[in-house]
Amino acid sequence: MLTQDMKRVVQQHPLGYVATASADGTPNLSPKGTFFVIDDTTIAFAEIRSPATIRNLEANPRIEVNFLDVFVRKGYRFAGNASIVKRGEGNFDHLVKMSGSSLAPRIKAIVVISVIKALPLVSPAYDDGVATEASLRRTYTTRFRKMQPGEKFEE
Ligand SMILES: Cc1cc2nc3c(=O)[nH]c(=O)nc-3n(C[C@H](O)[C@H](O)[C@H](O)COP(=O)(O)O)c2cc1C
Repeated sequence: MLTQDMKRVVQQHPLGYVATASADGTPNLSPKGTFFVIDDTTIAFAEIRSPATIRNLEANPRIEVNFLDVFVRKGYRFAGNASIVKRGEGNFDHLVKMSGSSLAPRIKAIVVISVIKALPLVSPAYDDGVATEASLRRTYTTRFRKMQPGEKFEE
């Protein structure tokens, strides 16, 4: 179900924006930079400091995550069900190893997401048929380079 390009985006841009639902229906959105691919239908992130996300998932495992390749202005949105593997339980140690995270000692749990829906995200910048991945990559790599400390930002 996860295509090669979906896996590439998660691997190269592992900062996923995680949406969960609070008990009162309020949306909760926060970034997780520890995402990794487990297999063709499963992704995961490390719970280090995400109390509201975990509280929400314990009551309601539905989750949605957005990933973006910010240079080509494309990405994916994944919806699924989360299960929480806590330190000392199940295959926690194996999952931490798979994550490759440098913060391993601080990981309290691995949130494993079984993906049930995967859709592409494409910027409207492509809608006129003029912009290409190559042209947007050029534009945004230049823009990000100019954001380096000490560089003056110009359009
Ligand atoms: C770039 C970035 C990456 C982050 N990665 C993670 C992560 O992988 N795991 C985690 O638990 N918290 C991570 N955080 C911290 C949480 O997003 C932050 O503590 C947030 O307030 C948790 O909100 P929540 O309780 O609603 O989930 C990250 C924050 C930033 C800015």
